[in-house]
Amino acid sequence: MIIKDYVANKKELLKEEISSFTIKPKLIIIQVNHDEASNAYVSGKKKDLDYLGARYEHILLDENTSQEELFKLIDKYNLDNDTDGILVQMPLPKQINEEEVKLRINPIKDCDGFNINSSINPCTPQGIITLLEDMNYDFTSKIACIIGRSNIVGKPMQKLLLEKNCTTIMMHSKTLFEQKKSLLKLADLIVVCTGHKYTLDSSYELKKSCYIIDVGINRIDGVLYGDCEPNLDVAFQTPVPGGVGLLTRLALSVNLIKCYKNNRGIK
Ligand code: GUN
Repeated sequence: MIIKDYVANKKELLKEEISSFTIKPKLIIIQVNHDEASNAYVSGKKKDLDYLGARYEHILLDENTSQEELFKLIDKYNLDNDTDGILVQMPLPKQINEEEVKLRINPIKDCDGFNINSSINPCTPQGIITLLEDMNYDFTSKIACIIGRSNIVGKPMQKLLLEKNCTTIMMHSKTLFEQKKSLLKLADLIVVCTGHKYTLDSSYELKKSCYIIDVGINRIDGVLYGDCEPNLDVAFQTPVPGGVGLLTRLALSVNLIKCYKNNRGIK
């Protein structure tokens, strides 16, 4: 499975679907941090939306924007009938509480799936599940290890894998090396989302039939590294770059269309 080709095919289908809509889906992208990573995420998202023929408005706020000002803006788009999705780029500056922001976005327009009241799943875990489903991966009774307990990836990933009837094991920074070593021997599927270069490497003994999903994007001296050492001796491993990042971007576009349909009462 070449993820680049898989995503390109999926994007053609989305483009075709959007071309059939008279009014195009519209995403509001609100960015407060001006750091390099946020700029790169936002420009990638805009490029996808341009390609697919969806509409967007990119609102770049001052980095000193208060939470109150940000809430006013979110409220405005929460009520705007012509806005289908609202994305507030994370992370946010210290003066703004990210959890409160996530709850402020109207769940029906929450294309990131960050609001716990939203029926939409966060993009990275959803993109991973959809890829595995499309590969006809048989989840039932598989032992899935998740390394990294973030709110955006690790925790929702575990929830979705449980819903697919995997037996899940969550590991994190306080899991001891010896514990990881013995638990990972059992793994049929490993999702690594620690944000550290090569958390998983060839020092671990893994099943040859194991599938590894590498969520990492660690930029060190201008070079991108995954959370896993590349080319481990397993059945399937997603590359970095050209892996999960593409799936996340794809899932955002899929989520935007879901929000569009919900917002406009389309089946
Ligand atoms: N920052 C890093 N990834 C994401 C994402 O998927 N959505 C938002 N809103 N912010 C992010």
